Amino acid sequence: MNIKAVRGTKDIFGKDSEKYDYVVKIAGDYFEKYGFSRIITPIFEETNLFKRGIGEGTDVVSKEMYTFEDKGGRSCTLRPEGTAAVVRAYLEHKIFALEDVTKWYYHGSMFRYERPQTGRYREFNQIGVEVLGKKDPILDAEIISMAFEFLKKINIEDLEVQINSIGGKETRLKYREALINFLTPKKEKLCADCQNRYESNPLRVLDCKVPSCKEEVKEAPILLDYLNEEEKNHFDVVKQFLDIFGVKYVVNTNLVRGLDYYSNTVFEIVTNKLGSQGTVLAGGRYDTLVEQMGGKETPAFGFAMGVERLMLLLSENHFNEKNKVFFVWLGEETKIEAFKLTQKLRNLGIEVGIEYESKSMKAQMKRADKFGAKKVLILGENELNEGKIVIKDFTKGEQEEILLSEVENKLI
Ligand code: HAM
Repeated sequence: MNIKAVRGTKDIFGKDSEKYDYVVKIAGDYFEKYGFSRIITPIFEETNLFKRGIGEGTDVVSKEMYTFEDKGGRSCTLRPEGTAAVVRAYLEHKIFALEDVTKWYYHGSMFRYERPQTGRYREFNQIGVEVLGKKDPILDAEIISMAFEFLKKINIEDLEVQINSIGGKETRLKYREALINFLTPKKEKLCADCQNRYESNPLRVLDCKVPSCKEEVKEAPILLDYLNEEEKNHFDVVKQFLDIFGVKYVVNTNLVRGLDYYSNTVFEIVTNKLGSQGTVLAGGRYDTLVEQMGGKETPAFGFAMGVERLMLLLSENHFNEKNKVFFVWLGEETKIEAFKLTQKLRNLGIEVGIEYESKSMKAQMKRADKFGAKKVLILGENELNEGKIVIKDFTKGEQEEILLSEVENKLI
């Protein structure tokens, strides 16, 4: 019997699991600086949560969910995304009564029955953030900027931030009518999917990736032209603060997102390096979801990114930014100082490798290379007597002699 991982799922190990941990750790540390704390929700939920939260007309709910009946006859679904569950938890634990603004981040597996290809899986991992309780366009810009800065921090470059506003429900109803009128005479030219959904979910035709559909919607009415004063102002301030935060963006008037809960600001961060799966991170404002799930009116904003897509983009040189150091000691007299310093550096959070037995410089340097050290500390008897140590930086190809007392500052 030759059993393999189920289509669309995968094992993550070796360099890939290092990349995975690296992305998740930096994200958590970084988001915490913006006041986020972690929430862990169950991997499966009642099916109705997603039907109600994401929308029955969406592809995710109508075609892609892993739904099963448990032994107690309940319909459960493996979570296809994180936002609906976060809102459920927010209401279930009455978090709204405890604080004005809630900022949560999460990461974990999501499940969607999609056609697998590079960057698209049936079980994939997301890191997401949600802010509940605040409707301020500055917040939208701040969170988009946080997302962009995070991607820069892990050295993922050549990204484009695309933004749009899809207004509120009334605006979309008006626009929907105009769009259906525009699309009706072109129906035959649309792809099979769009022919089916152009009346039930016409906005999705706007961001269909099929070339013939892209061509047909070129002259479509523009949603931004339908925004009311308040929605327009909101969007203007988002753009103004993106400029202030130094985030370059383009307004993509066809950006509408595939989940029903959005209103006003929506955004995606895209790359052209992953073929058709170029959206690395996506999200927006969802001011009516909490109410829709039975809570009080609570504005909210969030995004999620695909960890596997980030892993595909992480360059080998860059991802291992970990401060990995190898301690080379030469001669028995240096051993005690070498181990003392090694422990001290480890306690400061630096990953340090060291040999237990006295070995030649060549053998230790070979070991340092295998260890993946970015820097090597070299302590010989002469240096020790002078209270000095050599530090060699492989990434810069530089070497210098410094005081033993300066080592910590040099490495942190
Ligand atoms: P989404 O656009 O469905 O939004 O997914 C967010 C990101 O998850 C995508 O941009 C992509 O990087 C990744 N992703 C989605 N499907 C797959 C897949 N099959 N394989 C690999 N990666 C995938 C959401 O899920 C919303 N909950 C985001 C959000 C949070 N909006 C507000 N708050």
